[in-house]
Amino acid sequence: MANSILVGAQWGDEGKGKIIDFLTEKADIVVRSQGGNNAGHTVIVEGKKYVLHLIPSGILRKGTMCVIGNGVVIDAVSLAEEITGLRKKGIRVTKDNLLISDAAHLTLPHHRALDRAKETAKGAGKIGTTGRGIGPTYSDKAARTGLRTGDLMDARRFSERLKSRLTDANAQLGLLGGETVDFKQANAQYLAAAKTIIPFLGNTVVWLADAVRENKEILFEGAQGTFLDIDFGTYPYVTSSNTTAGGACTGSGVPPNRISKVWGTMKAYTTRVGEGPFPTENDELGDFLHGLGREFGATTGRARRCGWFDAVFTRYAAIVNGIDDIAVTNTDGLDTMATIKVCTAYKLGRKTLEYPPTDLDALAECKPIYEEYDGWQKDTTSARKWGDLPVKCRKYLQAIARLTGAKLSIVSVGPGREQTIVV
Ligand code: GDP
Ligand code: IMO
Ligand code: MG
Repeated sequence: MANSILVGAQWGDEGKGKIIDFLTEKADIVVRSQGGNNAGHTVIVEGKKYVLHLIPSGILRKGTMCVIGNGVVIDAVSLAEEITGLRKKGIRVTKDNLLISDAAHLTLPHHRALDRAKETAKGAGKIGTTGRGIGPTYSDKAARTGLRTGDLMDARRFSERLKSRLTDANAQLGLLGGETVDFKQANAQYLAAAKTIIPFLGNTVVWLADAVRENKEILFEGAQGTFLDIDFGTYPYVTSSNTTAGGACTGSGVPPNRISKVWGTMKAYTTRVGEGPFPTENDELGDFLHGLGREFGATTGRARRCGWFDAVFTRYAAIVNGIDDIAVTNTDGLDTMATIKVCTAYKLGRKTLEYPPTDLDALAECKPIYEEYDGWQKDTTSARKWGDLPVKCRKYLQAIARLTGAKLSIVSVGPGREQTIVV
């Protein structure tokens, strides 16, 4: 058994898609277990770019089975478009390489409308969501009023349930000043999309249990990042699912004693999209990276906020996920820097903190304590083995792994599959 979970150790967009694609060479099955099409996972293979939102990145490897687990929230319209888009690019998507849980909750048109209306109503206090309806879908799941993928199998029953949910949602949208959703149009559009996804539906829990029994190797592809987790993130500036390692079990039905390893992916610096605290944010670094055409969101195209590597947060990510091995991405983003800062702890009044405080007001008061590293000022994008990296670069990478408290195992020096170094 060598089943592993890969999580983002920061605020999302750590390069999970790229690392999953790399690790999939040895895996039989790739599973998504939480989040929805708020995710945008970029994989570049032979110069061709793919951005996956709901489908596991393993779909790009021949012979890999992909599973969308019960914990994922599925916008059927978006998923149908993603399947069609991949097929147009020559990627085979059939029942032989994609299985979707019949117990996953559906993101419906009114969830998107509610997400946007709530954000607008919040004004300056908005979360900065992706507008994909994620929060309202998980709210319905927790309130026990959601619809699930399995409900699509009986069109008449689905329509009745959708109509009833729309009555409530439209009343709420009216109060929020949002645009209401027309039942006929939403129903027709949704049922048309459902035709594409129904053939993939099944009991993924039983299927995965059989795979475990057959000693197949499973890789869990985390979405978002540790600090967007509903429990462990910078609440309320988070997403609505458990993005941390435990979420892989509840979101797939694969029990914890069948998992042997946790990978943490992190950038060599930090980024965040949307609102919320970000102690090491640095506009100069942001301007520099944006100037290189980097750090624009894969889902919404928004410019990501950028800052120095923050070991206070990654150290917390290491304990909350049980990270064994680290994959550091975007090392090459720092190639031309003369000096690189790393936050090792926070000063809060007279106290020195090793972990971030839970209270956001306290976090806002925290002052990062930085260590400075000499930049390597050499191009790393063509490095293919550890020894190819400049000494100063290796020193920096080992330092951030040490400060995080896990083993450095992969270094990524570019977006391509081949730009990956096993340490
Ligand atoms: P994910 O959501 O965690 O899968 O990450 P995203 O795909 O949203 O964002 C990561 C971005 O960094 C994408 O544009 C990747 O192609 C890119 N990327 C990943 N690793 C590297 C790397 O080592 N160097 C460079 N230059 N880009 C990378
Ligand atoms: P991947 O998987 C980065 C952020 C949004 C917002 C907050 C809540 O590509 O790393 P939501 O739409 O989920 O209600 O938004 O979470 N967010 C992400 N940020 N990467 C993601 O996914 C994200 N998914 C959600 O920007 O701050
Ligand atoms: Mg992303």
